Amino acid sequence: MLTKEYIKDLKINGNGTFKELVRNNSSNAGNLVFILENLGHLPVNFDGKWLLDLTQSKFSHVRELAVKNIAKLTQAEYIEALNKIIQTDTDTNVRREAVSAIGRMRNINNKKILVKILKDKDPKIVCQAIRGLLVFKNDEEIDNSLKLLINHENEIVRTVIYKEYFAKDKIPSSQPHQDSCDYLKNVVVNADTIEVMKQMRDESIHLTFTSPPYYNARDYSIYPSYKHYLDFLTGVFKQVHRITKEGRFLILNTSPIIIPRVSRQHSSKRYPIPFDIHPFLIEMGWEFIDDIVWMKPEASVKNRIGGFQQHRKPLAYKPNNITEYLMVYRKSTEKLLDWNIKQYDWKTVQESKVTDGFETTNVWKIDPCFDKIHSAVFPTELCKRVIQYYSFKGDLVFDPFGGSGTVYL
Ligand SMILES: C[S@@+](CC[C@H](N)C(=O)[O-])C[C@H]1O[C@@H](n2cnc3c(N)ncnc32)[C@H](O)[C@@H]1O
Repeated sequence: MLTKEYIKDLKINGNGTFKELVRNNSSNAGNLVFILENLGHLPVNFDGKWLLDLTQSKFSHVRELAVKNIAKLTQAEYIEALNKIIQTDTDTNVRREAVSAIGRMRNINNKKILVKILKDKDPKIVCQAIRGLLVFKNDEEIDNSLKLLINHENEIVRTVIYKEYFAKDKIPSSQPHQDSCDYLKNVVVNADTIEVMKQMRDESIHLTFTSPPYYNARDYSIYPSYKHYLDFLTGVFKQVHRITKEGRFLILNTSPIIIPRVSRQHSSKRYPIPFDIHPFLIEMGWEFIDDIVWMKPEASVKNRIGGFQQHRKPLAYKPNNITEYLMVYRKSTEKLLDWNIKQYDWKTVQESKVTDGFETTNVWKIDPCFDKIHSAVFPTELCKRVIQYYSFKGDLVFDPFGGSGTVYL
């Protein structure tokens, strides 16, 4: 029976036995995976020729693990085989593992091979080659090859190269990241949101949580057309972007809406607001992070399925809409989230830690809130979660469409 101990013994006692073991198990993917996953550290001069045989296995996971183990062997004699795998294997993971293996050897003699891989059609392979080459950053030939990729058609490749070679150090904001202006704290302003934001200085808020008007579905604001509405929101979120601190979040609550039909001769029209506003947000410099679904009890929403329940005719199916989106965006930056967290002192980080019982999925089941005066009020539980998960104690939280002011409670 195959055990970890048995594999360990084989490793100590010599190599020839592995070849035999692998041959006897060549059609047993489970056993091959077990052997490869339990090889552990390989001694210097370990004869890994049998691993090369496994790179031809019909099981792609076996090939991938074989390459992973070859990567532990630093002997140059494996380079040609790895290069061949990159050129011929049909599985991206196997190919990527082979590029990674060459990269991990950290051998400048492999530079030609890695530079050639930069022309690969698969951006994941290109990124892996970039990673291997960046170990030798400041080698003129390597830097020149990598810089050319700033015009690569893949956005992730471009972003990596931009960060490594072209990102300029941002002039730091005059206000420390943790701080915000006292005059903006605990303030409600009854005015046009764009006019108010124009008075606010760059990078002055930590988090925005908002629910904009639902186009013309509710009475509180009327727009001449959907285009006017999207232009208006674009203007608002450009301002929000300007006043948001580096790397901080915008949580946008919207949902598709329906404008009722003009008469029985016409159909009603549905507008997918979250999907239509999304490209504008990306274009203006928000990075998409997550989509959270706010789910309400079916009894709390308008009944649309009634007609279908009677006639059951295909095409005329209209489900009850029990969800809204909380789209999570981050102000684009080359800095990682860790940078944002490190801007806070130890005490603030400790005091801001999210307590037990937090939501673990992107489906948040929360009852809606009904208000006699305002028709679209946030449930306080929704605000609580967003503020807890996306801000630190003492942060400035902003809602450009405050409505009844739930976010401020
Ligand atoms: C969907 S509601 C938000 C409700 C809010 N989340 C709450 O809990 O009460 C959108 C709000 O934006 C307000 N609004 C619309 N256009 C605005 C503008 N240009 N400036 C400021 N507020 C505006 C509307 O009056 C409405 O109260």
